[in-house]
Amino acid sequence: MLNKVKYTTHDLDVNGNVPWTKEENEVWKTLYHRQIDIVKGRACPEFIVGLEKLNLPQDRISQPHEVSKVLKATTGWSIEPVSAVIPAKEFFTLLANKKFPAASFIRTMDDLDYLQEPDIFHEIFGHCPLLTNQAYADFVESYGKMALNADPKQGQLLFRVFWYTIEFGLIHTIEGIRILGGGILSSHEETLLAVKKNHPTYLEFKTIEALRT
Ligand SMILES: [Fe+2]
Repeated sequence: MLNKVKYTTHDLDVNGNVPWTKEENEVWKTLYHRQIDIVKGRACPEFIVGLEKLNLPQDRISQPHEVSKVLKATTGWSIEPVSAVIPAKEFFTLLANKKFPAASFIRTMDDLDYLQEPDIFHEIFGHCPLLTNQAYADFVESYGKMALNADPKQGQLLFRVFWYTIEFGLIHTIEGIRILGGGILSSHEETLLAVKKNHPTYLEFKTIEALRT
């Protein structure tokens, strides 16, 4: 069994910034550089456009207000810093109000590829580029609104749709199959595995089958 690493979370400082340490910024820098080289030609074009709009810093972790400024101007969304995993109701309420929760912790240099909980690299690099795209942003907002009004069984079914699209979805583009899901796009290994010549077996998205699995 894997040992659980305790992630270090931060409170915001008086200016609303997360006081990231030098080591944490180094982790971002490492993750950013190895990922930026491989997303082109593998991520869907809308992700690449969003990445250019966000213009994320390469050598330090973005502050919430920097990402929010671009999201506000493009789709009306913003970043909500949260300390760690939040209760489902709080998560859905944020999404329904066009606020994307971003954890105030990052994985460690010793564990770049294994993630127990979604960290700031997953949330910012994996999801925020596509949150500059109106169709994607509207979909996530609708998910939040529907999940808020769903009973537990319906909530589970909705989550499966979210899982197979926003987190781990692929999408047909004129260039071929490309990556949509933030869970893949924030993972070096999975990005390389998802789009390659001898690719894994792709399954067409069928709602009823997604709901059954
Ligand atoms: Fe995610």
